Amino acid sequence: MIVIKIGGSVACKDLTKVVQNLPKYADRSVVVHGGGCLVNELLKRMGVEPRFLTHPGGVVSRYTDWETLKVFVMAMSWINKQIVSALYALGVEALGLTGADIGVVRAKRKEKVLVVDERGRQRVVDGGYVGRITDVAAERLKPPPLKVVAPVAVSERGELLNVDGDQLAFDVAKRVGAERLLLLSDVDGVLIGGRVVPRLTAEEAEALSRSEEVRGGMKRKLLMAAEAAKLGVEVVIANGLAGSPIDAALNGAGTHIVKNI
Ligand SMILES: Nc1ncnc2c1ncn2[C@@H]1O[C@H](COP(=O)(O)OP(=O)(O)OP(=O)(O)O)[C@@H](O)[C@H]1O
Ligand SMILES: [Mg+2]
Repeated sequence: MIVIKIGGSVACKDLTKVVQNLPKYADRSVVVHGGGCLVNELLKRMGVEPRFLTHPGGVVSRYTDWETLKVFVMAMSWINKQIVSALYALGVEALGLTGADIGVVRAKRKEKVLVVDERGRQRVVDGGYVGRITDVAAERLKPPPLKVVAPVAVSERGELLNVDGDQLAFDVAKRVGAERLLLLSDVDGVLIGGRVVPRLTAEEAEALSRSEEVRGGMKRKLLMAAEAAKLGVEVVIANGLAGSPIDAALNGAGTHIVKNI
């Protein structure tokens, strides 16, 4: 099994390359996607400024109040159906789901979260509608049909919750017992000094996530990749905007994070 995470940066720019490459993997993969850029765009159009929280270690997450949650679910559902409908045109009858659909992704609402404020002090703030994934229904995600999963979870109280796409992709990979996890984004891989780092061990990935040269969404990808690699899942961080991006990632393009080199 391969878990393929289509980054929001790919979904907002150009889905065609990755979608065209998907049919040949439809019988052995699960697709997870992001969509942060569309969430931001819609929020701004509605006059709401996107807000982010910085956690100790530098990982950033979206502050998701009720209004933000509505926009989040709408944006993610749109991207989900863009992928499903594009696949349909290529002869793949995929099933697009949020985590609430048939309860595939369950989470607990993070009541309180630890953040670092502008002055560098740690504070505990309200967690909003953000979830910590507790369970993924792996059996329901195995093809056929190919499942396309949006980063929205459901709580036992029936709340829809924002979950991070990379985190979800990692949890899905772990639960379905995937051999590989592809994180497709809008960069050629992990860039250090302007060059793609071809190979990393889990320990190296963890150390790099703390580097000054790794920012934003890449920090979390490296942390997730390190965790996955430790479990024996090979992670590839590669460009989803390149030609045949899945083939390329499986054939050595991008940054490969493995348990041992
Ligand atoms: N050292 C680095 N190497 C490569 N990319 C980096 C690095 N540091 C920061 N980045 C940024 O990380 C981004 C990719 O992560 P990001 O979370 O923004 O995208 P995504 O995962 O495709 O989107 P989403 O989170 O919505 O699914 C790149 O666009 C790049 O700007
Ligand atoms: Mg991201």
